[in-house]
Amino acid sequence: MSASGLKTITVIGSGLIGHSWAMIFISGGYSVKLYDNRPGQAAAAIAEIRKQLEELEKSNMLRGELSTKQQLALLSSSEDLAQALDGAFFVQECVFEQLEVKQHVFQDVERLVGEEVILSSSTSCLVPSSVFSKVQNRSRCLVSHPVNPPYCVKLVELVPHPETAAVVMDTAFSLMTEVGQVPIRLRKEIDGFAINRVQAAITAESWRLVQDGIISVKDIDLVMSEGLGMRYAFIGPMETMHLNAAEGLEDYMKRYGEGITRLLTSFGPVPDFFGEAAKNIIKEMCELIPSDQQHLSSRRERRDQLLMGLAKLKKDHCDQHNH
Ligand SMILES: NC(=O)c1ccc[n+]([C@@H]2O[C@H](COP(=O)([O-])OP(=O)(O)OC[C@H]3O[C@@H](n4cnc5c(N)ncnc54)[C@H](O)[C@@H]3O)[C@@H](O)[C@H]2O)c1
Ligand SMILES: *[C@@H]1O[C@H](CO)[C@@H](O)[C@H](O)[C@H]1NC(C)=O
Repeated sequence: MSASGLKTITVIGSGLIGHSWAMIFISGGYSVKLYDNRPGQAAAAIAEIRKQLEELEKSNMLRGELSTKQQLALLSSSEDLAQALDGAFFVQECVFEQLEVKQHVFQDVERLVGEEVILSSSTSCLVPSSVFSKVQNRSRCLVSHPVNPPYCVKLVELVPHPETAAVVMDTAFSLMTEVGQVPIRLRKEIDGFAINRVQAAITAESWRLVQDGIISVKDIDLVMSEGLGMRYAFIGPMETMHLNAAEGLEDYMKRYGEGITRLLTSFGPVPDFFGEAAKNIIKEMCELIPSDQQHLSSRRERRDQLLMGLAKLKKDHCDQHNH
């Protein structure tokens, strides 16, 4: 048996994200114990995971080397937190995005686990120094922030608390790599981490261009999905620039740096996301895709299918081209 076959991870909170983490960890051969404080919720999540794994296997999209049956055998739930934590070396918290709830969960968890156990939070918007402020030993704490849906979008931002030990970051990095995610490290915590900061910059300028009557909602989305996004699925903004000038990045900035500076100084203040003008943007979006559950779920399903296909393409293609 491989070393990972002996390792157990506890996932706390079995909603959308907890459920995805469980699928990812079992795909890598780890035993997962799911805990949720809502009675029946963790067991219901397992039933749902079983259904999803069967569908993934049918469409040849199952991750990892193990069959659905082998993966499911690694998964269990417990209604008792102490039992769910027994034997775990890594705890991935996925409860509501509320500071007090997370702080309490980690306080409870710390009382129940040994000192070497790593405490990891899925939080999107809270910095580690807030989430872990009630934990005694913060050197074992970090944020591992996934991107939705984590089963096909593999990036995970690893964000340290100011006191996090280097070895804890390294262990989380190896674990994420081993289960097929793509971890990145932030060297310090910052509001929004990297993903949401970059995303907010894109959101802001897209919103401004629509609000200022320069472009439609439909067309600004095409700027990304048929333009920039084509490249960004494979190379990031830094490599894009490096490749786009004859002699690389320095040359690129010689040619275009002033132009970019000029554009950036014309961006204006943070747009208004709530007032009258926002209403028009929302209306325009809802004319394209009405915001009732039926339309939204069918578009979500389409998004996830397409992302799966892209994940497969990246895997087949990029493995061949050695990244
Ligand atoms: N949804 C996303 O797109 C996304 C992406 C990245 C990160 N995250 C983060 O992941 C976390 C979970 O988000 P989600 O979308 O899965 O939420 P969710 O509401 O779907 O699931 C939360 C689950 O936690 C359980 N829970 C609540 N309090 C608990 C407690 N004290 N102990 C045990 N279980 C408890 C709830 O019963 C529920 O099942 C949040 O911090 C969120 O910011 C979400
Ligand atoms: C704190 O956590 C680190 C990392 O897990 C561990 O090595 C250390 O022994 C812990 N210290 C105490 C005092 O529990």
